[in-house]
Amino acid sequence: MHRLTVHSPAKLNLVLDVLGKRPDGFHELRTIFERISLADQITLTRNKSHKISVRCAHPHVPLSSKNLAFKAAMMLSGDFSISEGLDINIVKNIPVAAGLAGGSSNAAAVLLGLNRLWQIGLNHAQLLNYAARLGSDVAFFLYDTSYALGTGRGELIRPLDVKTKLWHVLVTPRVKIYTKEVFARLKLSLTNKKDNVNILLPFLRKGDFVRLAGALSNDLEPAILSLRPDFIYLKDKLLDAGAAGVCFSGSGPSVFACVPSQKHALSLRAKFDRRYTQVFVVSTM
Ligand code: C5P
Repeated sequence: MHRLTVHSPAKLNLVLDVLGKRPDGFHELRTIFERISLADQITLTRNKSHKISVRCAHPHVPLSSKNLAFKAAMMLSGDFSISEGLDINIVKNIPVAAGLAGGSSNAAAVLLGLNRLWQIGLNHAQLLNYAARLGSDVAFFLYDTSYALGTGRGELIRPLDVKTKLWHVLVTPRVKIYTKEVFARLKLSLTNKKDNVNILLPFLRKGDFVRLAGALSNDLEPAILSLRPDFIYLKDKLLDAGAAGVCFSGSGPSVFACVPSQKHALSLRAKFDRRYTQVFVVSTM
């Protein structure tokens, strides 16, 4: 095989509970990940250059060692003494540094893709090990599941057998927010201590859309709003426009609403000004 194209989807966090700070500096989380239809495409092409290079037309995507897809490929080529070259071409549809784990998903797609293309033969546990070294959100994308419970720093994944399909309007301000900064601003004494995962999960399982929308929650919200207080207007605007529940995804700034149908999502999307925001209609994948 000379070339392989892989799909690299985004995620939302329907719940993100921060339980505490760990001795290693990371935070202990309990989160429900949802894989969504918004996705990048990654084409991996072998070549004779002995170099790994990344191509991407998006101006905010780094093309070298800060790119997690590049890092994933470098790790595998180093560990398995792959001397041939590789071109990683990323068609970027997922907003960058937006709480949607686009970079992490790209890294997982490269791990899975190169395992086939280079015929390395890594098993799932070995792939998970690489994922954990690359970032907290990478592991989720190694599982073929729509929803999963994430614990630890987010890298310990338990797929959830849930069939519910959700529709969302996803609004991403044209501003990047870095996860590290958001966690640094988090005041753990102010996070609510409810078990929001177990509050939401029964509603998700039953497809009880109204209660589910009311149970969305994200402990990082105060920290995101301390960086950008104006983002509260985004949430308010979605609620005013008729969304039942609105929540930040991950460390933001993406905000999403749960809506009952694609039709509702399309009419909600029409109410947003695209100069300052990117607005997507997405569903569970
Ligand atoms: O794992 P990842 O590289 O995506 O994390 C980026 C940064 O976010 C970490 O360096 C850390 O500061 C913060 N973080 C955290 N707790 C987590 C995940 C991320 O404090 N569970």
